[in-house]
Formats: sequence, structure tokens, C-alpha cells
Amino acid sequence: MDRIAILKEEITKKLSETAELSELESIRIAYLGKKGSITALLKGMKDLSADERKTFGAEVNKLKAFAAEKIEEKTAELKEKEIEREISAMPQFDITTPVDLSRGSYHPITLVQRQCEAIFKSMGFAVEDYPEVVTDYECFEALNIPKHHPARDMQDTYYLDNGQLLKSHTSAAQNAILRKYSKNLIENGMPIKAIFPGRCFRNEATDACHENTFFQMEGIMVDKDISISNLIFFMKTMLSEVFRKDIKVRLRPGFFPFVEPGFELDISCLICGGDGCPSCKHSGWLELCPCGMIHPNVLREGGIDPDKYTGFAFGLGLTRLAMMKYGIKDIRDLNSGSLKSLSQFTDDE
Ligand code: PHE
Repeated sequence: MDRIAILKEEITKKLSETAELSELESIRIAYLGKKGSITALLKGMKDLSADERKTFGAEVNKLKAFAAEKIEEKTAELKEKEIEREISAMPQFDITTPVDLSRGSYHPITLVQRQCEAIFKSMGFAVEDYPEVVTDYECFEALNIPKHHPARDMQDTYYLDNGQLLKSHTSAAQNAILRKYSKNLIENGMPIKAIFPGRCFRNEATDACHENTFFQMEGIMVDKDISISNLIFFMKTMLSEVFRKDIKVRLRPGFFPFVEPGFELDISCLICGGDGCPSCKHSGWLELCPCGMIHPNVLREGGIDPDKYTGFAFGLGLTRLAMMKYGIKDIRDLNSGSLKSLSQFTDDE
């Protein structure tokens, strides 16, 4: 048992001393990997009596769950830090710039949203609007997230007394949009191409990088033979237009129950163009947008046969995009209603 307590302490200490995402993987392997210390404890159990094995096994399994949970928590924490760092490394807007308040102006999110809409419209996408109050079915169940699925924990949701909820992501509109256009797809062979920007809500402790109210822009495309290359093409085109330079993209695996495979899309660093600099931690990449191929269950739920059709979905963080584009360091400025900071953004640079 001593060994368990020692390992627990050791893991806690190591995690508290880690500041790099890349180190976390080595820690995971060192403890939970095939040759890891915790795995070794489990393997060593064969020499114990049946009774000992039972109690010891339970303790080791607890330790295993503890380690996995702590590593996951630390990963989330470091990822957030990385995003904070990326945004603060962007050229910053200057709050002291004199602005002409008599003229009024568009909100930076509106500007970015309209720009994205125009780009996608030019590529044949419909722009859809969707309510902010939705049902549990729309927000979760139709998206392959049944009740009590742990993926619900990722989105701390505001529920209303009547069982409805404030949508925690724009994906909540996916089912309705698939249904709306499925007839056209099946009977007339017209691909489903739609984007749906919207305001989302999650219970967050607010700080410079977190807000309980933020904007996303979701996009889907469904047709015969849609593949990941289509997804990459549309994202690359859109982002190169938004940032007015050629943007490279790359995909890394990411988990969302409503896509399979799921990805995190990274873009080449806006500051150094991919060569590596402090703002991208010398990796050359910035994390921007989760995406993936729509899960067969989600297509089926939307009235579309997954054996005949495939599609992609992405969930672009519009708030984050606006912060990156305009160098807005504190997310709270966006909902502040402060004309002094919000009036200085214009449609184009
Ligand atoms: N809805 C997801 C979120 O907000 C993002 C996402 C959208 C992921 C579409 C994959 C595909 O966390």
C-alpha cells in the first residue's frame, strides 16, 4: 500500500511542476503506459493471494483513475494557458486611440461574423439562424451525447426550469439543419452546405480568456463522397481570406462525440508564418477550430443515410477569431458595452 501512496504523491508533485503540454505525455507513459509504474503494480499482483489481490487491485485501480483524471485536468489547464499566451502575443489594439463616438460602429464580432458569412456565401453555403434556447435533444441527444455521457461535463450548461437550455454550442442546430435540407439532398441531389453563427452560453468563471457568453460559427457540408480534404479546403480558403494571407492548416486528432474522426485544426502562426516564434512557442502552429466528419448516428438522426452520404462539420470560435484578428486581449471587453474600446474596429484594415 505504501507504494501506492508514494506514487500518488509523486504524480501530484510531477504534475504541479510541469508547465509544458509535451511533458504531460511523458508523464502519462511513465505511469499509465504499458511499461509504466502503475501498470507494473497491476502486473505484480499475480504473486499475491486472492484476498490480497482483491484489495490491492482496487487500490491500484483507484490510483490509476486518479492519475488519469489529474493528467487530464492538467492538460486542460495548460491548453488554456497556451491560448492565453497566443492571444496576448498578437498585436494589441490600443484603448487610448481617439474614436468618433457620434458615428456608431459595428461590434468586432459582427465584423468578423459578416466577413466569414460573405466568404462562405461566395462558396455556396446558406447562412442559417437558430434560437438561443434549445432542447436537450437538440443540444446533446441528437449529437450522439446521451444523458449522463461524460462529454456533457465539457459544457457546463445553463438549464431553464422548463427543461430547455441555453445552447452551449452552435452544434445544437445541426439536427434541425440536416432535417431542413435532407429532402433536397436525397431527392434532388443538392449537397447540404450551411453555416450557422450564433451566441452560446456556458457557466464559466469569467477572466480575460473566459466568458459565459460567446460566439461560434458552425458549418456543415453533406453530400456523396465528402471527405476530410473537402473540410481542409474550405477551412483553408476561409481563414486565408479572414487573415488576408496564405494560411496553412493541419489537423490533429480531437474528441467530440458527434464527429468521427474528430480533429483540432491548427493554423500556421499568424506572427511568424510557421517558422516558429515565442507566440506559437516555436511550434509554428496555433490551435483554432475543432472539426471532423459527421458521426453516422448524427446523420441518421437528421434523416440521412450514413451509408450513402458523408459530411464534415466545424465549430469555429468566432469570439476567439475576433480576438486574434483585432488583437483584443481581454474577452470581457467584447461584452462590456464600452464604446470607447468597441468603436475603433473597422470593416477592413
Ligand atoms: N461543438 C463543439 C464545441 O463547441 C465544436 C465542434 C463543432 C467540434 C463541430 C466538431 C465539429 O465544443
